[in-house]
Amino acid sequence: MPTQVETEIERLREEIRRHEYLYYVLNQPQISDEEFDRLMRRLQDLEREHPELVTPDSPTQRVGGQPSEEFPKVRHSVPMLSLDNTYSIEELKDFDRRVRQLSGRAQVEYVGELKLDGLSMALIYEDGLLTHGVTRGDGRIGEDVTPNVRTIRSVPLRVDRRKLAVWNHPRRFEVRGEVIMPVKAFEKLNAQREAAGEAKFANPRNAAAGTMRQLDPKIVAQRNLDMYIYQVLVNGRPPLARHWDVLDSLEHLGFKVNPHRRLCASFGELLDYIREWESKRESLDYEIDGIVVKVNDTQLWEELGYTAKSPRWAVAYKYPARQATTRVINIRAQVGRTGTLTPVADLEPVQVGGVTVSHATLHNIDEIERLGVRIGDRVLVQRAGEVIPQVVKVVEHAPDGRPFRMPKTCPACGGDVFRAEGEVAYRCVNAACPARLKESLLHFAGRRAMNIDGLGEALVDQLVERGMVKDAADLYRLTPEQLAGLERMGEKSAANLIREIEKSRQADLARVIFAIGIPFVGERTAQLLADHFGSLDALAKAAQAELEAVPEIGPKTARGITEFFREKRNQQLLEKLRAAGLRFEQRKAKQTQPPLEGKRFVLTGTLPNYSREQAREMIEDAGGRVTGSVSKKTDYLVVGSEPGSKLEKARQLGIKIIDEKELLRLLGK
Ligand code: IVH
Repeated sequence: MPTQVETEIERLREEIRRHEYLYYVLNQPQISDEEFDRLMRRLQDLEREHPELVTPDSPTQRVGGQPSEEFPKVRHSVPMLSLDNTYSIEELKDFDRRVRQLSGRAQVEYVGELKLDGLSMALIYEDGLLTHGVTRGDGRIGEDVTPNVRTIRSVPLRVDRRKLAVWNHPRRFEVRGEVIMPVKAFEKLNAQREAAGEAKFANPRNAAAGTMRQLDPKIVAQRNLDMYIYQVLVNGRPPLARHWDVLDSLEHLGFKVNPHRRLCASFGELLDYIREWESKRESLDYEIDGIVVKVNDTQLWEELGYTAKSPRWAVAYKYPARQATTRVINIRAQVGRTGTLTPVADLEPVQVGGVTVSHATLHNIDEIERLGVRIGDRVLVQRAGEVIPQVVKVVEHAPDGRPFRMPKTCPACGGDVFRAEGEVAYRCVNAACPARLKESLLHFAGRRAMNIDGLGEALVDQLVERGMVKDAADLYRLTPEQLAGLERMGEKSAANLIREIEKSRQADLARVIFAIGIPFVGERTAQLLADHFGSLDALAKAAQAELEAVPEIGPKTARGITEFFREKRNQQLLEKLRAAGLRFEQRKAKQTQPPLEGKRFVLTGTLPNYSREQAREMIEDAGGRVTGSVSKKTDYLVVGSEPGSKLEKARQLGIKIIDEKELLRLLGK
């Protein structure tokens, strides 16, 4: 008989696994991040009290152990081949012709898949548990990076053994797929590296590959990698007669399989698929560089066989690179929020994959040297996904090309420019620099920070240029009259903005910590700090060692924090923000029974005065819970304008439906 604790631990694990699957594999979360964290913390607490009950497939064990010294080499059971590339429909037709000839069939069914631009990886499962993650390496021998692979949340640490019936219950199987870094995660990572004076990654693929080579899995865990599976080997072979069914079975087992695959009954259908994705790929939040075409019938795979380096039953169709050549008109330094000066090339406008490009980033001075680029040169520029266009190489040097030099003074404020030893980045050291100020204000007002809706770039430019706002605290002194005097600002929008600013005073401590722009402190770190220290004053006083003792906070972040609070100008800003009435304390659980204790709420539609996030906070402060979907257990559905299907469901279940006004009444406001 399992004890009560064992039962609770198993229940928590099941629930966490389910929510990980919903969030990371299906992209359909059903609970909030806070609720998820609560489950995880409960499980961590129980496992800490009962270490004998910890198992390697527990969701708490994704990041564990010490950094490795090096990665052991492993021989692949079956070589990991690469694919032949085709660059035109003609070449693809040749492939189809060869397949039909060799197989003796008049028509062949194909599966089209997106060609994800990452690095391939093999995962080995034994008795349903993930035991090894191995890189491709040279195709025959790869590196065992299991601790790193385990941190990828869409990779199941175990699969339901009953479901392995689809493959006839193999004791051991191998799946292969692509590890990628989504574009958003890539941009965030590069922004952090820039702030830290580290060299940026050139593209998401390099960033994913660089991350996998990290010896410390804790770092890998922070990088938001993802993995899509596209192949299975059971005894060295696909377990089913059709590749299409193999992909479905992978999905059934809980693996993340790319949803944009297509079964094509004919070559014509395959061409439609390829043409369709050439433009649609812009809308993806990860990069692809083509389409992979595979013969659906896996028995034919054996018959068609392999060349030395690639299978004859699959081929890659590569989309034309989104590159073009143009001339560099100028190179100038642009100042960001952290004061970093980034060299930017102004270009003669050129069409690259349907978009006009007139600027490209040159990242930093090392990159300029590496490229050898000078003003006047002709260069090759490249666009990839949503990433800012980049200069790939110089095509032709201008005879009179002028080299770029980093300015000695900041182009925005004339302040000193400084390069710390060992850093790539040059920085403007003037904290009051208007360029820095504009970026800081946009960050402060951002949706994930103080969430001041309507405070965008155009407005921030005016506020700073007219001297109306010299720091974030000045926002809280703006009057409707002052705002109404600005360009493109009517009385109504001025009143709206003032209301937004007012509301932001209620933002909780974690948001304040994130908003003030402490180096290396992102949203999650801000939440950890708020939970740990409970007040801004306690955080400001914390010593380096105390900060490093907080889980997930390393020496670099700890130093960023202490240096931030040591700076006089930051101390002054904080005092002004305190005087403006911002929350410097974590909200305490109420002593008396909170009014909504135990009540479950679901929100749908847009509320007239509060964002969903704000409504959630108010409900949770009052002891209630907010969940993502309506069920019999829901007590109230709060409805705003344009509600979703939840309204219908609530009606069917007879759940009480209320509006914002009634919610405020329940909250005693
Ligand atoms: S199948 C034996 N499917 O492209 C064939 N590969 O250029 C195994 N890739 O090494 C590869 N998306 O890293 C396959 N849907 C997909 C893919 C894919 C990306 C990568 C993979 C492979 C490379 C070949």
